[in-house]
Amino acid sequence: MVFKLVKEWLGRSKPVKAELQDIELDKVPAHVAIIMDGNGRWAKQRGLPRVAGHHSGMKNVKKITMAANQIGVKVLTMYAFSTENWKRPKEEVDFLMKLPQEFFPLEIEELIENNVRIRMTGWREGLPEYTLKAIEGAIERTKDNTGLILNFALNYGGRKEMIAGVQEMIRDVHSGKLQVEELDENRFSSYMLTSDLPDPDLLIRTSGELRLSNFLLWQIAYSELWFTEAYWPEFTESLFLQAIAEYQRRGRRYGGV
Ligand code: IPE
Ligand code: IPE
Ligand code: MG
Repeated sequence: MVFKLVKEWLGRSKPVKAELQDIELDKVPAHVAIIMDGNGRWAKQRGLPRVAGHHSGMKNVKKITMAANQIGVKVLTMYAFSTENWKRPKEEVDFLMKLPQEFFPLEIEELIENNVRIRMTGWREGLPEYTLKAIEGAIERTKDNTGLILNFALNYGGRKEMIAGVQEMIRDVHSGKLQVEELDENRFSSYMLTSDLPDPDLLIRTSGELRLSNFLLWQIAYSELWFTEAYWPEFTESLFLQAIAEYQRRGRRYGGV
């Protein structure tokens, strides 16, 4: 892996090389979650329709995935569509729902070459058939890969996830599978959609908005938060590495001293 990294360095622009040198490879966050925000404003700024921003944002996903993979991130969760995003105009929603059909055929070979495994966190119900088909196909094709997990949060909402989890817990109590006294934080986590993933160590949000927008509410209790003014389509590997470097400089205390 170090060889690959050095080879990559040689081909990179100066700033990225400099930032790679700031990263301690033995302290890379295992799970990075990104709220990919600002596509619409990016487009508006250029006099383009909002959907042009989504298209451009889609193009950015692979680049950041590769950067994360190269430094040894294990899980990269990308907020692609929230349970609240259905409120948007139909044309915009339709456009977003068609992106997986374009993204996966375009990028899957390179993702496979890099041992990336695709998964999804969110509700399959409500997604159009073609969206599901594109993502399920990619999940199937990459299911034996052992490298970075590229996890798309699609039709995902943190509150919905917690309510669904609580409903399941109550059912399990009624059926005798769960004793009320047994419910602790670990058990609660096991009812979340991310039960098989570590909690995010680092949460990045682009576009200058300082809020969570219903993303991984349970899981980010102790995540480090990092914000940038850059809109998602203009978010670079260099900014990604800056976020990682800053994460590495922070002291995570988890309530201790
Ligand atoms: C993020 O960009 C992508 C999705 C939410 C699907 P936005 O579409 O939210 O862009 P802004 O925030 O309106 O600029
Ligand atoms: C959060 O962004 C959802 C995604 C990035 C998919 P939004 O643009 O939907 O969030 P708000 O509306 O600014 O809170
Ligand atoms: Mg937004």
